[in-house]
Amino acid sequence: MAKLAIIGGTGLTSLKNLEITNRELVHTPYGEPSGPLTHGVICGHEVVFLARHGYGHTIPPHKVNYRANIWALKEEGGADRVIAVNAVGGIRADMQPGRLVFPDQIVDYTWSRVNTYFEEGLNHVTHIDFTYPYHEPLRKVLVSAAQALGLDPLDGGTYAATQGPRLETTAEINRLERDGCDLVGMTGMPEAALARELELKYACVAVVANMAAGRGEGEITMKEIEHHLVNGMEQVRRLLEQVVPSPETYQA
Ligand code: HPA
Repeated sequence: MAKLAIIGGTGLTSLKNLEITNRELVHTPYGEPSGPLTHGVICGHEVVFLARHGYGHTIPPHKVNYRANIWALKEEGGADRVIAVNAVGGIRADMQPGRLVFPDQIVDYTWSRVNTYFEEGLNHVTHIDFTYPYHEPLRKVLVSAAQALGLDPLDGGTYAATQGPRLETTAEINRLERDGCDLVGMTGMPEAALARELELKYACVAVVANMAAGRGEGEITMKEIEHHLVNGMEQVRRLLEQVVPSPETYQA
């Protein structure tokens, strides 16, 4: 049976509730993924986990080999769907630190990242549909599970994917807001588009780590980000324990 993959972001380099069965080193036609695939079981159900920034959190957002990661999870990990966990800054006033957001749209501001599998050896040029960048049924399952747990999630929002690794200026955040963006992170793209190219069902759990630049008090500190991520990732663990044991919901 096809498996669920979980991509952990900043603050989630391991899953406490994952009983690890084995770690698999994978080489892909696109180079090395961020680390070995971690195969394991959550509440009796097999999943495959990968830490996007490496298990020691050493790979910055613009250096992640997104193509190798997605390819490895599908072709070697046997995944047909992905829950991607991403730390973000909140732009909209209700996107407060510690909150979980399940975005439904993306604006891509990244540059010079390898962002497609469809560039060499093509029989014909391929344009994937990306009208709805996330798999809506999987996104809805996550929202419902978070609601059932009383986590007060935000259902929907436009994710601005920025290049990083620096955080944004206030003027940049003002521009993103004018563009209709609600939350900002550095890792949402090209990951979501690559997943679509490989026909994986993909949804994002965004954990608000801070108010975006100019939206909170003063400067943003790593201490603040880390503090909110500890609490946010605990909610993600509870969410996974709620979702993973009910494959009938997310395998629809
Ligand atoms: N901006 C971009 N990425 C982020 C932020 C932010 O404010 N917080 C966590 N990841």
